[in-house]
Amino acid sequence: MRNLGAGAGRGLVPRAHRSHNPGPMSHASDVEASSEAQTNSEAPDVLPPSSGTTPGTTPGTTPGTTPGTTPGTTPGTTPDTTPGTNLPAVEAAGAAIEADKRAAQSHALAVDASFKRYGLDRWGKDFLRSNEHGHLVFTAPNCPPVDLHALSVELARRGIRTPYVIRFPTMIEKQMDTLKSAFAKAIAENSYQGGHIGVYPLKVNQRRSVVDTVVKARERLNYGMEAGSKPELLLAMAQPALKQSLLICNGYKDREFMRMAFHAAELGHHVIIVLESTREVRRYLDVLNEQDWIAKPEVGVRAKLYSRGSGRWQSSGGESSKFGLTTNEILAVVRELAAANMHGQLSLLHFHIGSQITQIKRIKTAVREGARIYADLQEHCPQLRYLDLGGGIGVDYDGSRTSYPSSANYTLDEYASQVVFEVTEACLEVNARQPTLLTESGRVVVANHAVTIADLREVQGELLPVPEATEDEHRLVDELRETLENINAKNVDEYFHDAIDFRDECLQLFSRGYLSLQERACAEGLFHRIRAKVEKIVETLSHPSEEITDFLGKAQQKYLANFSIFQSIPDAWSIDQVFPAAPLSRHAEKPTLHAQIVDITCDSDGCVETFAHPDENLPYLPLHERRGPDEKYYLGFFMTGAYQDSLANVHNLFGRCHEVILRSPDDDMVLPGSERVELTPTLTFEIKMGATCEDTLSAMDFDVERIIKWLRDRHLAVETTLGESWAMGLLQSYPYLAR
Ligand SMILES: Cc1ncc(COP(=O)(O)O)c(C=O)c1O
Repeated sequence: MRNLGAGAGRGLVPRAHRSHNPGPMSHASDVEASSEAQTNSEAPDVLPPSSGTTPGTTPGTTPGTTPGTTPGTTPGTTPDTTPGTNLPAVEAAGAAIEADKRAAQSHALAVDASFKRYGLDRWGKDFLRSNEHGHLVFTAPNCPPVDLHALSVELARRGIRTPYVIRFPTMIEKQMDTLKSAFAKAIAENSYQGGHIGVYPLKVNQRRSVVDTVVKARERLNYGMEAGSKPELLLAMAQPALKQSLLICNGYKDREFMRMAFHAAELGHHVIIVLESTREVRRYLDVLNEQDWIAKPEVGVRAKLYSRGSGRWQSSGGESSKFGLTTNEILAVVRELAAANMHGQLSLLHFHIGSQITQIKRIKTAVREGARIYADLQEHCPQLRYLDLGGGIGVDYDGSRTSYPSSANYTLDEYASQVVFEVTEACLEVNARQPTLLTESGRVVVANHAVTIADLREVQGELLPVPEATEDEHRLVDELRETLENINAKNVDEYFHDAIDFRDECLQLFSRGYLSLQERACAEGLFHRIRAKVEKIVETLSHPSEEITDFLGKAQQKYLANFSIFQSIPDAWSIDQVFPAAPLSRHAEKPTLHAQIVDITCDSDGCVETFAHPDENLPYLPLHERRGPDEKYYLGFFMTGAYQDSLANVHNLFGRCHEVILRSPDDDMVLPGSERVELTPTLTFEIKMGATCEDTLSAMDFDVERIIKWLRDRHLAVETTLGESWAMGLLQSYPYLAR
């Protein structure tokens, strides 16, 4: 894939320079940027705006007042404030302050309700607030707050279109810290003799901005890395070698992989090869005997536990799991190592019972089983000193703190406390040395550092006008008209039921040729309106009937979002994972739509039908209708930082999205082809543009020179309206929707 400079025609070049860069994309970006600047009156002037309070507003400011004007005064007039000289003016000022207070209160109440509606008050409570504009503000540790809507508007102004991923690297460091502290606390509370080492499994997110963050924090937090493939191992071994921090090699290993591990040990890394099968011990010994190695990796064994995890990945554990060795096989490995006089190399016992383990009791059972094996195995292997618990700590995507698949019924503190307690007990029972505990947690470390942003476009199924009744209108259409007029809270069950029957009968009559296209259109339009009215009525009922709520649950509008599910949240498609989602703005306004999200791929699977929520996951997302074609209305999918980058696919050739990474002003920009964008003195982003049409075509083996030649030949043959250079420029464009 050719690495094109971020500037060329893709919007990051200062405007003055763009004109030197003719071509369709620079032209398109300019058009978008300037119309955005003209039409978007809601963009706050400054980034970030005031950080807001929880959740809500800066007390005393009235939403909608221009910052800097005194509430209640007409800009440009000076109120008379001399005591005793102008009583009516003083009263008026007092009334204005009262009115402001009331407005601020009702704004705060509306925002509160909105946070509950989306579950933001639960899953987003640690990092999201709303500001006085009703925008979501993301606050990552040690960083200035970022108004996500204002940032998106500003990016659009600079020609950077959705979709993109906004990354907050300090969230990763914070999670690493929290995990370390949780273990430190549990170790102290249990007077545990071993320590804890965190290991980052590269498979969870290999993006450079993520790995760099982990690597930077590694020394301070004594963090290791786990590699499950040759490229991951190459990446890990290229990092500075820290004597105390481990490099764990998991996954299936051929001789070359084994040699790489030996080489990494010679480079100064503390390497442990985890044997996944009995064959691998032979491969290890073969490679050991190949050379007179200067340094040798230690060895671990992965145990196949009978205990299973819970949730979607429970088959990673248990007897039928594809991974690990039974105890019989472990003992065979030990014998084989002993026969080669290498059993002193065995230092680690590993197990992993699956990702996103939802129930703490499953963890407890697995740890107890693993710790028992560890304690007994120590007799055979004097150097055994690490117990590697794998990953699996669940992320509370829906904020419910339950054993639901999108949640986990424990905190990091509870996890650490349970683990340390179980291992302490198991070791005490047989008087075994207490191991250093390793965790290979990935999801919980990186999930919440990333937000995927798409902008919402059109609502499919908008209410259209219905033609006036005619003299000879069909009886059923007339019935629907009457139903629409008379349906209310008292008769909603009966009338809505009838309306469904009338509509179904109309469709049947049309199929048999007894109803005209015009009449069918009328029936559909009327039914559509009845449904919209019922939705409103149902909101006022404390106990709406199940039949109606089921029906409404299925039949919502579809909102088109400018992204590809397959690229940005592939797990939502492949395993129905739910991600929390919320609009970035209008949190002081009640939404009027119940919508599913459809993406821009030509695939009916490109639809998000379930959204994380603490009470019950939602079959739709409450959303606002755009006020007009110029309003920017953005949607955020949160906690997309784990696995989504590596599992992303290019369905329809919608490729890698732009990356917008919050940096400290002192940071160097490190991603190839990225640019530094300073929005305020404290708010610096590193922006890497996503894959162009050319990039995704190249990934499918079409060399660009050939495509250019084909295009040129086509243009030689025929006259076109937009011309050759316009078509050529498209190769450099971002494949997602422009305005
Ligand atoms: C061996 C191993 N370690 C660690 C992990 C990371 O797990 P998680 O992201 O659930 O923490 C995985 C992922 O499934 C794994 O297979």
